[in-house]
Amino acid sequence: TDQAHIRNFCIIAHIDHGKSTLADRLLEFTGTVSKRELMAQTLDQMELEREKGITIKAQAVRMRYTALDGEEYELNLIDTPGHVDFTYEVSRSLAACEGALLVIDATQGIEAQTLANLYLALEADLSIIPVINKIDLPSAEPEKVRQEVEDVIGIPKEECILASAKEGTGTQDILEAIVKLVQPPKGEVEQPLRALVFDSHYDAYKGVIAYVRVVDGQLHQDERVVMMATGSTTDILEAGYFHPRLISAGALTTGEVGYIATGFKNVKDCRVGDTVTLPSALTRVEPLSGYQPAKPMVFAGLYPVEGNDYPLLRDALDRLQLNDASLFYEPETSGALGFGFRCGFLGLLHMEIIQERLEREYNLDILATAPSVAYLVTKTDGTTMEVDNPSAMPSFGDIEKIEEPWMDISIFTPSRYIGTIMDLVTTRRGTYKDLKYIEAERVLLTYSMPLAELIIDFYDQLKTRTQGYASLDYSFGGYHESDLVKLDILVNGVAVDALSLIVHREKAYHQGRALVEKLRGLIPRQLFEVPIQAAIGSRVISRETVKAMRKDVLAKCYGGDITRKRKLLEKQKEGKKRMKIVGNVEIPQEAFMAVLSLG
Ligand code: GTP
Repeated sequence: TDQAHIRNFCIIAHIDHGKSTLADRLLEFTGTVSKRELMAQTLDQMELEREKGITIKAQAVRMRYTALDGEEYELNLIDTPGHVDFTYEVSRSLAACEGALLVIDATQGIEAQTLANLYLALEADLSIIPVINKIDLPSAEPEKVRQEVEDVIGIPKEECILASAKEGTGTQDILEAIVKLVQPPKGEVEQPLRALVFDSHYDAYKGVIAYVRVVDGQLHQDERVVMMATGSTTDILEAGYFHPRLISAGALTTGEVGYIATGFKNVKDCRVGDTVTLPSALTRVEPLSGYQPAKPMVFAGLYPVEGNDYPLLRDALDRLQLNDASLFYEPETSGALGFGFRCGFLGLLHMEIIQERLEREYNLDILATAPSVAYLVTKTDGTTMEVDNPSAMPSFGDIEKIEEPWMDISIFTPSRYIGTIMDLVTTRRGTYKDLKYIEAERVLLTYSMPLAELIIDFYDQLKTRTQGYASLDYSFGGYHESDLVKLDILVNGVAVDALSLIVHREKAYHQGRALVEKLRGLIPRQLFEVPIQAAIGSRVISRETVKAMRKDVLAKCYGGDITRKRKLLEKQKEGKKRMKIVGNVEIPQEAFMAVLSLG
């Protein structure tokens, strides 16, 4: 297709505002997919995604649409991930487009990710088409939301399209707006190939399938190409587009969006944000801007509950990483937990997804340590190191300074919750930046806060304190020096490395006490008394005791019924599933995560 008849666009929205449902309507209206095929939401392919109700992987679909002007257009819809952990992926998907539908729920109005995504879209110079969705709902307030769009975003309210993705209202208006308002691509057809990789997945037969936007030139099947950032070369096995299944087309031309089967065995060879070009052009073309290697922000130890499962866990992580270049892992040994892996994730949701996939798809029982951030440590000898595991922190006598990652966070909330949010943020060492009224009773609050405080239950607390009304977005804001100490936890006199924490000095006493109290409730009674202590260096700051077990559980069944006895034993076994024996004490999974629920 010639560029004048191509439109590349994406849909951006706050979670649950109806992005996937709207995408379905567009596919249906253009006859790309039939209603029946849509039964299962086409764009959210992974089961886990559907269950969690969020979009994780960006996808792209080509549609053909005959507009009211009588011309036929090729519309490429690029679906963007909806969660804040995946901002970089979102930014690359946006870079492959010229326009964005900004979907806003008519019952909710603008939320944190509406704005966060809008800013990303504006940075990418996209035309924005606001769509006010869910107007079928009785509680919809389209006029109010329109006004919000004008006041907060600065787009005249007349430009908002009113829609119900559920009932199909407004679908044609949206397609017409895409044709009229989104710019056609403006690539150089005669220049050497430059294509942007905005996503990829691994296919067992064709290797890594890269999702690309051809910016200049063309690409063809069987042609040799090179990835400018990684330097990897390969012959294109297949080139085509998504419909939404893969349709081989032999070539992709300037302005088009589609896929190339690369034959690469690992997504690492073909990073999101990289530029595909021809070896002959390598020295003549500039790579497309914006490439960034994925950087994990949140770290945790993952250990098999059964030590024998270690090789299985390694294989599973290998397999998951084939599809996910942002998953980082390396072997780690813990005195308490044995052999496992230190894993790095883009954020908490990413971590949760990986853990669930390991358990569900690979049938592994995993024990995870509490999440940590990466600290930049400068030692007294002048050397610096990155420490993402509290137990690996050098001894404090050798440390000159520690810096920790801070985040810029923004919270949309009804104004009646300002007080409780201020309070929450302050207890998390956050500092106030700004308060903006969006309308009479809704505000946008901005703060800076250490990431370490954000990953410990902050989101849940925010939701609880605001009855679910507040929405949150955050982005990396730089490293800052902090007065931090290492808190060690001793169980029965033995320091358990996997329970160590890095905390702010001022909060250390309070957190140590709370954690020890919590652990007392979580560590089951043993045949003997178990002291639990929190210590900073050699100084014990808190102590609790798990009392010894009084009587044998089996005593209850004395003389009795054998099936009851077996049931009881089975129950015990069940309960033991997520336990690790440390020294001579059994410690359950919950204990390693206890810090997450200290509040
Ligand atoms: P993420 O993938 O998490 O970003 O969510 P999403 O924005 O794709 O939202 P999704 O399309 O999954 O819709 C969220 C919920 O709103 C679903 O239960 C939809 O059925 C519902 N929904 C979407 N559009 C409409 C609409 O126009 N009217 C009504 N009543 N419900 C809608």
